Amino acid sequence: MKALVYHGDHKIALEEKPKPALLKSTDAIVKVVKTTICGTDLGIYKGKNPEVADGRILGHEGLGIIEEVGESVTQFKKGDKVLISCVTSCGTCDYCKKQLYAHCRDGGWILGYMIDGVQAEYVRIPHAANSLYKIPEGLDDETAVLLSDILPTGHEIGVQYGNVKPGDAIAIVGAGPVGMAVLLTAQFYSPSIIIMVDMDENRLALAKELGATHTINSATQNVIEAVQKIAGEGVDVAIEAVGIPATWDICQHIVKPGAHIANVGVHGVKVDFELQKLWIKNLTITTGLVNTNTTPMLIKAATSNKFELNKLITHHFKLDEIEHAYQVFLNGAKEKAMKIIISNE
Ligand SMILES: NC(=O)c1ccc[n+]([C@@H]2O[C@H](COP(=O)([O-])OP(=O)(O)OC[C@H]3O[C@@H](n4cnc5c(N)ncnc54)[C@H](O)[C@@H]3O)[C@@H](O)[C@H]2O)c1
Ligand SMILES: [Zn+2]
Ligand SMILES: [Zn+2]
Repeated sequence: MKALVYHGDHKIALEEKPKPALLKSTDAIVKVVKTTICGTDLGIYKGKNPEVADGRILGHEGLGIIEEVGESVTQFKKGDKVLISCVTSCGTCDYCKKQLYAHCRDGGWILGYMIDGVQAEYVRIPHAANSLYKIPEGLDDETAVLLSDILPTGHEIGVQYGNVKPGDAIAIVGAGPVGMAVLLTAQFYSPSIIIMVDMDENRLALAKELGATHTINSATQNVIEAVQKIAGEGVDVAIEAVGIPATWDICQHIVKPGAHIANVGVHGVKVDFELQKLWIKNLTITTGLVNTNTTPMLIKAATSNKFELNKLITHHFKLDEIEHAYQVFLNGAKEKAMKIIISNE
């Protein structure tokens, strides 16, 4: 089968690999129909995760058709259309019992990272019962791809951990797919002010279309002063959705007393945490890897068209063109790319 394979820092290639086979009775083999490239995949490509083995098939977001299931998998059968969760979980270990699926003793984020992923014609999914979701009638394939990772990530690690409440003033730093997912799911909780911060005018314009009340371009404006003009003393919730010191720094300087800072970005280097100024502010700071415990709820919300998810999809490619698709996504600002759909048909 064809698969996108990682060979170390800045080296990826579409190659011929053996079709995966069932290894355990709890596995399923899924024929991938649609997949996408994530900011996290770009991180791996750029060498942010040297722990990824040479030869690894990348990708952790997508949907497909069940090809084969192990004998313990009773929930799915050949031919079912399923969403592939970015997080694999056994459902029975101590962390899974607490719905901390991200820390499953035999799973977590392993797809396209510790085991072969979905940017291929077929993928083996361990613990299929708990790691795949049936696609309901009425949910289109491309929208569904956004539910593998970005929607639960934005909702759980940004909005829920940030404790967004009705009437709150919130700021989202980073208008990439994850920041946009925060923007869309935050609106379930009716904040009164939603400020989006980025350096890309196209992305800021899309954020306005999707519900941001204000936008700030951090390349041309002083973000702290601009936030104070909009929200007075500061925001109730600041959500970091980039993963670099500069954006963490913005977040720690725009919050008012009693606020939450929810860090979603994956950081590659340490940040400066100004505890000498912040100790007095009664802040709550949260971090985390997506658990995907709200995926079933988000599938229902997406199926009833509760948000304009398809506006996040900007480009379409075939699996044969995936190397080019990586280049387009790498030049997201120039190419006006947000979420790229890769089709296997
Ligand atoms: N915690 C989790 O479970 C989880 C899951 C998925 C992704 N992530 C992480 O979330 C982050 C965002 O993912 P994404 O796919 O949206 O990434 P992305 O790279 O597509 O988007 C990041 C955005 O940040 C903007 N940006 C960069 N520098 C900035 C600055 N100095 N000021 C303001 N904006 C700036 C960019 O213009 C871009 O729009 C990444 O770090 C990714 O690895 C975390
Ligand atoms: Zn992802
Ligand atoms: Zn588990």
